[in-house]
Amino acid sequence: MGLKKLFMPMAGFRYRVGALNIWRCYNVNMKILLIGASSYVGGRLFADLSKQHSMLGTYFQHPKNADFLSLDITDQKAITEIVVQQKPDIIIHAANYASRKDSVNNETRFAKINWEATKILVDLSKQYHYKFIFISSQAAKFLDTMYGRCKHDSEEYIKKNCSEYLIIRPSVVYGMSPNLNGDKPFIKIVSTIREKLPQKVDSSWLFQPTYIGHISQVISQTIEKNIWNKTVNLFINTPVSQFSIARDIVRHFGLEVAAEDLGKSSTLVVDNAVDLANYDLSPNSYADLIEILVAEIKV
Ligand SMILES: NC(=O)c1ccc[n+]([C@@H]2O[C@H](COP(=O)([O-])OP(=O)(O)OC[C@H]3O[C@@H](n4cnc5c(N)ncnc54)[C@H](OP(=O)(O)O)[C@@H]3O)[C@@H](O)[C@H]2O)c1
Repeated sequence: MGLKKLFMPMAGFRYRVGALNIWRCYNVNMKILLIGASSYVGGRLFADLSKQHSMLGTYFQHPKNADFLSLDITDQKAITEIVVQQKPDIIIHAANYASRKDSVNNETRFAKINWEATKILVDLSKQYHYKFIFISSQAAKFLDTMYGRCKHDSEEYIKKNCSEYLIIRPSVVYGMSPNLNGDKPFIKIVSTIREKLPQKVDSSWLFQPTYIGHISQVISQTIEKNIWNKTVNLFINTPVSQFSIARDIVRHFGLEVAAEDLGKSSTLVVDNAVDLANYDLSPNSYADLIEILVAEIKV
């Protein structure tokens, strides 16, 4: 065991009062290296976790913050240099192609980013003793796409080789971020509201949405309670379509969206959102999710 590991601060302890298991948490400040801090999810993680931890972010093409470090995760030497120089307690890996569409005619680069980079980061964790947090996806349950296979293979490699890891599996993510990049469903809703643009939204595919703030909440709890080696499925318990979420948000701004049947069908995995209850997360219902999303857009 390395010296760093030996002196890692204890984050908390459990004690019993009657039948209750109670966690006492200390204020823990970790040095966290967030890879992909300019991403939609990464931007929100950086903002939320900065309130408690010493955050360091990396970017590839979009330096959203002057302090972010440049890093190409296909460059093993560059990753190693950052790890050696920065000596993080924890690495959060949020720099993947975030859609199955990105693998089309792009298989080699897709595999380098969504699979080989994870392997490099996991292998280095053995030598440099950082905890590893991977932002995976519900897609890891489905091996019919390259996106799903890379997430699945990354998860398996992490579970086999990391001594302390956390895997978070969001579904489609909704919520405010400093980085509103690309054509993600929540970002389209924000554009509809801010630019008052009419929009058609798919009503055919049903899924259980993820609140972006839950990702930070689970990471914070994991660090505070010092409970690792979990795979956390993060989504609320109501299957909805992208259309119904958009409709239920934009109506608070006096707007409407039109339903469009794109004929998307995929297997719905309903697991009663047990991890939401396990981590006692809020919001935990569809109505509360809509309320918080509306509030975040209004700020
Ligand atoms: N958004 C969702 O609904 C959703 C759902 C489930 C899971 N996830 C997962 O959450 C994570 C973040 O997703 P997101 O939607 O926030 O992603 P995103 O906004 O599309 O951003 C992807 C990030 O990857 C970085 N990147 C790309 N190539 C890179 C390279 N060669 N080296 C270093 N960084 C590179 C980009 O950095 P630059 O911007 O600096 O170029 C970008 O910030 C991904 O792992 C995704 O699979 C997202």
